[in-house]
Amino acid sequence: MEVIRGAEALRRLVDERRAAGDRIGFVPTMGALHAGHRSLLRRARGERETVVASIFVNPRQFGPDEDLDRYPRDEPADLAVCRAEGVDLVFAPPVEEVYPPGVALVEPDPGPVGELFEGAARPGHFRGVLTVVYRLLEVVGPCAAYFGEKDAQQLFLVRRMAAEHGLAVEVVACPTVREPDGLAASSRNAYLTPEEREQAGCLFLALAEAAELARKGETDAHVLVAAMAREVGAAPLARIDYAAVVDDATFLPIALVDRPARAIVAARFPSARLIDNLLLPPPGG
Ligand code: PAF
Repeated sequence: MEVIRGAEALRRLVDERRAAGDRIGFVPTMGALHAGHRSLLRRARGERETVVASIFVNPRQFGPDEDLDRYPRDEPADLAVCRAEGVDLVFAPPVEEVYPPGVALVEPDPGPVGELFEGAARPGHFRGVLTVVYRLLEVVGPCAAYFGEKDAQQLFLVRRMAAEHGLAVEVVACPTVREPDGLAASSRNAYLTPEEREQAGCLFLALAEAAELARKGETDAHVLVAAMAREVGAAPLARIDYAAVVDDATFLPIALVDRPARAIVAARFPSARLIDNLLLPPPGG
């Protein structure tokens, strides 16, 4: 496994691999690698001859009052995970390699969906995400890029950006990895106190409740949303940020669950803000 700090060095190495006939799998990360990242790396390893992972805490996707400074960083531990998962090339650049001073950046527009939910809670977040993903894909070149379904709105927007900009990337969605109580694997889980951690399963309970109602034939999204709010409200340390049902094809809220739909939820604990989502089953499914 090679660790590369420079964008041009990475481009050259990936180009060499591609010229030798390898198909490239790319897993972009901000480090603090956990079981969710491992599943992306494993999937890429199973499907592609060369696997590239990036470790870059992207300042552009953090708001001024967010956790950029305290975001968990442990490069040796992250490299050990990459090595164990069979990564070939790790791109761990300094900021100026991703955003070279004086070079005009492509800043893809997240559009109206980028203003909703996570975009409403974190203004500018998705523009920052799309900017870094576009830039990283520009360096890595044609590839399959692996993203977790846990960040469903991000996944939706990355997919749409790739289509709108005609990028030579196959965006691969990977299932959310969960703890035994349903809590989705996330780097921010590390912020939770033991008491918060005990209650953090409420997001998944809320989604599971919505899914169960949908399975039984409930099509009124308001009923599902109310049930989710109730579940999160039952956890004394959680404060609901949003709960909604969105059309899985547009990520826009729907009132009637009459098509493939996704329940989404966000909640604030004193030490961390958590998000999660679940594709709803069809009635009887
Ligand atoms: O999901 C993440 O970890 C980040 O948003 C990503 C895609 C690596 C961009 O910084």
